[in-house]
Amino acid sequence: MTTDFATAPRRLENMDDLVSLCARRGFIFPSSEIYGGINGFWDYGPLGVELKQNLKACWWQRMVRERDDVVGLDSSIICHPRTWEASGHTEHFSDPMVDCRACKKRFRADQLDDIGSCSAREGSSEHDLTEPRNFNLMLRTSIGASEDAASLAYLRAETCQPIFNDFKRVRETARQKIPFGIAQIGKAFRNEINPRNFTFRSREFEQAEMEFFCHPREREKWFSHWLEERLCFHRELGLDDEYLRTRRHEEGELAHYAKQAVDVEYRFPFGWQEIEGIHDRGDWDLRRHSEYSGKDLGVTDPETKEHFFPMVVETSVGVDRTCLAVLCHAYTVETFEGGDERTVMRFHPALAPLKAAVLPLSKKLAQPARKLHLELRRHWNVFYDESGNIGRRYRRQDEVGTPFCLTYDFDSEDDRKVTVRHRDSMSQHRIAIDAVVDYLREQLENSG
Ligand code: GAP
Repeated sequence: MTTDFATAPRRLENMDDLVSLCARRGFIFPSSEIYGGINGFWDYGPLGVELKQNLKACWWQRMVRERDDVVGLDSSIICHPRTWEASGHTEHFSDPMVDCRACKKRFRADQLDDIGSCSAREGSSEHDLTEPRNFNLMLRTSIGASEDAASLAYLRAETCQPIFNDFKRVRETARQKIPFGIAQIGKAFRNEINPRNFTFRSREFEQAEMEFFCHPREREKWFSHWLEERLCFHRELGLDDEYLRTRRHEEGELAHYAKQAVDVEYRFPFGWQEIEGIHDRGDWDLRRHSEYSGKDLGVTDPETKEHFFPMVVETSVGVDRTCLAVLCHAYTVETFEGGDERTVMRFHPALAPLKAAVLPLSKKLAQPARKLHLELRRHWNVFYDESGNIGRRYRRQDEVGTPFCLTYDFDSEDDRKVTVRHRDSMSQHRIAIDAVVDYLREQLENSG
């Protein structure tokens, strides 16, 4: 089937369109919405959680399961507070902050371009800003019944620090020798001064990080390897080169732990922004944790007997930011001859929250259609919908990015076939009901 569009399909230009789709279809919406929301915190609804799980599963598969030299970890969110002294976070992990004396709003001193006008100054709309001062981004909590200095703890600001804490135990129990890596996916928390751009800068978010420990003479080799590998990952999930680029950090912008850093950036509607960082952390972390804990985190070369701290190459991707990039990238509006429009989320099938939908043409066909649905959901997340006209049901699935719709009609009883409709091309053809599982497996596994 060929499709006549009146104009070229439109990509996302205005974030409000995506924010509205995400809320309306249950991908992502403000946390604690009934209380007016809480700035910098977001909830993933039924479809959002599936999208995010799929992304994490792809990362885990690629970074851990398919490799002999990377093992996984799931550490606690709260670490011993000395961790954050050793890592340098209590001292260095801050952003410059300014306050407006008139309207009392708070801003990042290095992001004053689009702060809008001051609502509290008559005669002048300009803010009356204080001098910048450093604001530590770690979120604090206290442990136990008392709330004194001894009970102070932090919610982890990055998922990698517990990896360094556990380095020795994991290396020994997994019987790994350098070069090898430890990977973890989990929540991180930062008390961002200005959360913004939907989920892009949040106060609670997920990271997928991998710390790769290697000999000092191999650090460049591994840095290049991981940068290439991570770019490949993003490309394979459908973010094409027009929307992806790398940016090397200048000397002055390197984080306190980094010897070199390259950001992987995505072209969001609000500009090029980082979704992942590849960092050469040198021996900063293992050396500091050895110093602060009194435990030797060095390794000995079995042949030369040389004792040294391994160098660390880190890949650190934001799960929420990548989900946001995937959502932005998938969003497409098509206008047909005659003016009819459809919004379609062109997710890579591996990421699509729903892989297929079973749609009986009439409620009278519910029983056999349900039977097919039951069979398919043993393999994938498959939706069942019998309400509304079939065109509207297709559109509902397009809008949440379901790659295949299977329509059970009155002929299905006789020819034991259903109609498969493809999300992107909208082409349709009939296949045997007995062959649907194999067909979907083939289509889903060989896509992209
Ligand atoms: N361990 C190194 C590290 O945490 P980072 O550049 O501060 O490095 C890594 O963070 C990734 O975590 C970023 O590329 C981004 O995708 C994600 N990230 C950082 N801060 C975030 C925030 N406030 N909201 C959402 N994602 C964030």
